[in-house]
Amino acid sequence: MSTSEIQTAAKILREGGLVAFPTETVYGLGADAGNPLAVARIFEVKARPSFDPLIVHVPGLDAARKLVTSFPEKAMKLALRFWPGPLTLVLPKTSTVPDIVTSGLPSVAVRVPDHPMALDLLRETDRPIAAPSANPFGGVSPTTAAHVREGLGDLLDLVLDGGPCRVGVESTIVSFLADPPVLLRPGGIPLEELRAVVGGIETDPAKRSAPLAPGQLATHYATTTPLYLENAPPASRRGFLGLRMPEDPDRFERIEVLAAGDDLRQAAANLFSALRRLDAAGLDLIEAERVPDRGLGLAINDRLFKASRKQMV
Ligand code: TXA
Ligand code: MG
Repeated sequence: MSTSEIQTAAKILREGGLVAFPTETVYGLGADAGNPLAVARIFEVKARPSFDPLIVHVPGLDAARKLVTSFPEKAMKLALRFWPGPLTLVLPKTSTVPDIVTSGLPSVAVRVPDHPMALDLLRETDRPIAAPSANPFGGVSPTTAAHVREGLGDLLDLVLDGGPCRVGVESTIVSFLADPPVLLRPGGIPLEELRAVVGGIETDPAKRSAPLAPGQLATHYATTTPLYLENAPPASRRGFLGLRMPEDPDRFERIEVLAAGDDLRQAAANLFSALRRLDAAGLDLIEAERVPDRGLGLAINDRLFKASRKQMV
């Protein structure tokens, strides 16, 4: 990473351009959050069917506080414990955050990414940066700069390359518009770790005070090859994705084992790359196996479910 590359990227952002940058979770497609036209370009480039609310990235707690009208004690505890890191807090927004960033919601999603290049960029730009995952709408999230270029290459002003993402699944999103707080999306910080710091967190989708996240839409995280979460129909060319070798490996033309042993962290880090490799293998279908629902397993199962055929019908 060179200082001048970061300076170039920061200049592009301040002038209303789009820069893809690495975070510890997935690559983000960034624009100046205070510039509605720049943010509009994010939606254009991703070809999102609607204006979905975006996560605003800041370099630290002080910058986050400027975006919100209140910071409840539990939210503060989590910020102090997990930032920088894969945790996004939904809090009531100030009027300085444009409506296009929040889809007109009175709240804003904020996080401090734990990646040196992202933090350098945020400090150098000196503005909050709105960034969804840097992939075309509904597709598999990018965990390398090459994935970003494959999906959006020519449409971006710059792609910063910070190597493969360490965590590999998106941030955990918790809303503080209600008490107890509500889990909006499982992600890179396990629910157990959040509960250990603030106690109860509501996970019942019916109690979610915020609108459905795009990550809950039918086609999200989808491969082009149909993916089935267990119960796959008969097919000749099958791919397998799971935490361990399948019981009958001969049934599969291509097998992706996500981790050695039961390491769910490693599995999360490999998930989106493995999905891309299977998708490129010319298979009839991908059969995915659930992982245990503990730790990062909750986020992995969430992504697999949303990528699956069952979800699309
Ligand atoms: O790890 C991540 O969170 C990555 C990296 C780039 O930071 N970003 C990411 O962004 O996953 P995206 O746009 O793919 O997902 C943002 C999620 C959406 O599901 C959106 O609905 C939710 O955040 N969100 C944003 N603002 C919200 C708000 N005010 N209330 C409720 N949900 C919100
Ligand atoms: Mg996304």
